Amino acid sequence: MKRLVLVGFMGSGKSTVGPLLARRLGWRFADLDAEVERRAGRTVPEIFREQGEAAFRELERRAAEDLLVREELVLATGGGWGAAEGSISGLDEETLVVWLRISAGEAIRRARREAELRGAEGKVAGAGSLRPLLDTPDPLGAAQRLLALREPLYRRAALHVDTRDRDPEDIAREIVAELNSDPGRIDRA
Ligand code: S3P
Repeated sequence: MKRLVLVGFMGSGKSTVGPLLARRLGWRFADLDAEVERRAGRTVPEIFREQGEAAFRELERRAAEDLLVREELVLATGGGWGAAEGSISGLDEETLVVWLRISAGEAIRRARREAELRGAEGKVAGAGSLRPLLDTPDPLGAAQRLLALREPLYRRAALHVDTRDRDPEDIAREIVAELNSDPGRIDRA
């Protein structure tokens, strides 16, 4: 196993668990949203607003393709990447995909908390608002609909980890324990 990819819905903790995992494995960490932002020279909400979602998806697809040739890498993807047809199924067998599971309700609670903390910066569309796809009059309904569509695709991940009421360190520890319990996985690194 040469690299590990975290997928899952918005707010599932991919960008928080990822660096903890990388540290435990002695690998490098990359964040797909951050890479897209770096390349585009603007934030994710700005890309959605100024270029539209399709343009964002194309930037995201290309950035992932470039990053996924690296070895000893933990990649935290954005919530849409793992739900795009062909993204998980297109990976080679040296890439382990881990799905961080979260409910729509919990995703909304976390996104709200994050939006309050970050204000107008980073992934949120504006002070106090949510991520672009949840920035609607009914964020919970939007999250429920989106998650229902995406779950069958996230499910293609090799490892499924429940994040409910769990500390990010605890989740990272579980994933590493899972890797160690099957040495064949990590020994190929
Ligand atoms: C998206 C999730 C976001 C970001 C963009 C679209 C999605 O990333 O890529 O707002 O489609 O679920 P996070 O999952 O890190 O919030």
